[in-house]
Amino acid sequence: MFMAENRLELKKGSAEETTKRFYNRQGIENIEGFKDMLVTVSREIEDIEEVKILTIWDSEECFKNWLKSDEFKEAHKNVRQNKEDSQSPILKNEVSTYSIAYKYVEY
Ligand code: HEM
Repeated sequence: MFMAENRLELKKGSAEETTKRFYNRQGIENIEGFKDMLVTVSREIEDIEEVKILTIWDSEECFKNWLKSDEFKEAHKNVRQNKEDSQSPILKNEVSTYSIAYKYVEY
């Protein structure tokens, strides 16, 4: 299994409104090999708030297929970063990927 993380650095005070943008699924749920999605918030960092979108997949290939898909394009068509639109609270993003060595879930 494979995990892809998108880490968003946000203006202070904007984490809540930003997490709400992830409440409705916009196509990822129909992609082959998509398993799970988590949205996390951290307010422990000085000057910014951090939201991470963690996505779990059967394989890296499934994630890459989503990145190339119309579903990905469609879900991001209204997304602007602060450098493109000064109204946007999204200061930057950073993608990291992981192979999942072990998983145990009880929920
Ligand atoms: C290139 C920079 C990116 C930014 C600034 C960004 C930000 C956002 C925002 C704000 C939304 C909510 C859509 C809306 O409000 O219209 C969204 C959707 C989403 N993003 Fe990104 N995103 C980026 C790239 C990525 C990447 C690389 C991943 C993979 C780890 C990812 C994972 C997701 C997921 C899972 C959704 C929901 C898609 C769905 O439900 O179909 N994003 N993104």
